[in-house]
Amino acid sequence: MTHAIELQDLHKRFGQNEVLKGIDLTVDPGQVVCVIGPSGSGKSTLLRCVNLLEQPTKGKVYVQGVELTDRDVDIDAVRRHIGMVFQQFNLFPHMTALQNVMIAQQRVLKRSKTDAEVIARENLDKVGVSDKCDSLPGQLSGGQQQRVAIARALAMNPDLMLFDEPTSALDPELVGDVLTVMRKLAEEGMTMLVVTHEMGFARQVADRVVFMDGGVVVEDGVPAQVIGDPQHERTRTFLHRVLHPEE
Ligand SMILES: Nc1ncnc2c1ncn2[C@@H]1O[C@H](COP(=O)(O)OP(=O)(O)OP(=O)(O)O)[C@@H](O)[C@H]1O
Ligand SMILES: [Mg+2]
Repeated sequence: MTHAIELQDLHKRFGQNEVLKGIDLTVDPGQVVCVIGPSGSGKSTLLRCVNLLEQPTKGKVYVQGVELTDRDVDIDAVRRHIGMVFQQFNLFPHMTALQNVMIAQQRVLKRSKTDAEVIARENLDKVGVSDKCDSLPGQLSGGQQQRVAIARALAMNPDLMLFDEPTSALDPELVGDVLTVMRKLAEEGMTMLVVTHEMGFARQVADRVVFMDGGVVVEDGVPAQVIGDPQHERTRTFLHRVLHPEE
């Protein structure tokens, strides 16, 4: 079977700072893999290497069997299959929710305005913000903005979705709405690579949890193993800090 994502010996260096030091990772179609790890361990860089927002220094990235690190590959064509959701939503502030979900469909996929609007409304409905179509991002809560951002990604019919701490900028009471949408996507079979510190989500939804520290994968296994019974001291220390932040 072709992996949805395969990283082979992935390295990334910024100047003297080697941020990724040889990452091997696979995600199979329909799997949800959560990446956890301390700040600065390279999680966002890893995610950005998967759709080549960052150019790896060494190693290979395959998405659905296509090597993205091959110089001849049409990277824009491959990227169309990959949805990305960021911590800071990145919506256009001067466009309504509906327009935010329509624009890339029209520009990138060349859908007609009518088609783009139908698909935008479907996806805004799916994430539970159909009543906010005409609102500007500034008129929405963080949780609503993030769900619009998810609808925008889904409207492009991605084969896989990358999430970079999608709930960490949200007030605590808004986190659940976004996680519910992500859980639904997972149940529908979406392939998802998710950087998150939501351990409840990781435990319940992830097929695998990957713990990164210092640019390497320290542990990679089922949630019950990596979160429930970590084998490495570094993992135990990190989990303790996340699960008991007040101590
Ligand atoms: N564009 C860049 N130029 C230079 N250094 C960078 C760049 N992007 C990231 N880095 C460095 O790479 C390291 C890893 O950053 P990264 O954002 O991947 O970590 P992270 O695990 O996502 O952390 P956080 O949990 O805080 O989001 C950091 O030391 C950061 O300063
Ligand atoms: Mg990050």
